[in-house]
Amino acid sequence: MAIAVCPGSFDPITFGHIDIIKKSSDLFEKVFVLVAHNAVKTPMFTPDQRVLFAQKAVNDYKLNNVEVVSYDGLLATFCQKVDATVIVKGIRQGTDYDNEIGMALLNRKLSGVETIFIPADVDHLHISSTYVKDVAVHGGDISSMVTNSVKKAIYEAIN
Ligand code: PNS
Repeated sequence: MAIAVCPGSFDPITFGHIDIIKKSSDLFEKVFVLVAHNAVKTPMFTPDQRVLFAQKAVNDYKLNNVEVVSYDGLLATFCQKVDATVIVKGIRQGTDYDNEIGMALLNRKLSGVETIFIPADVDHLHISSTYVKDVAVHGGDISSMVTNSVKKAIYEAIN
């Protein structure tokens, strides 16, 4: 049984992320949810806030083999630090694959860690953290995309 890392910006965590974390929790002995920095994104929430949101979801769904952490360095270095041999990413459609494949090859080159892609559930294909924030900013309903506590935090952040 392998140790896996589910990395992401998680700004904020969505039902799509939670589903991939649950699936990873079923597949692997131990799972690290890694709140990391994406060089091309400007986050709405601090790393500590994003960890708290993810931690609450992990607690609510009783995912006992999942640990939430934040890390400032390279994903490949984190994987080596915790002896993880697998990185897990969710894929909604082709553009996700296009974005992910380069990172997967880079991480394999840097550390030998393999990335596996889990197809998103059909109910989550429309969800992204970016869409969630945009819909909220424009007054739309985000209840189908994030937990109530995250929804509350987004409305507090934008008002
Ligand atoms: O949720 P995202 O934004 O698609 O996640 C991307 C993330 C944060 C996993 C990626 O940017 C990352 O691994 N950042 C940590 C720094 C790193 O390892 N950079 C090299 C690979 S791009």
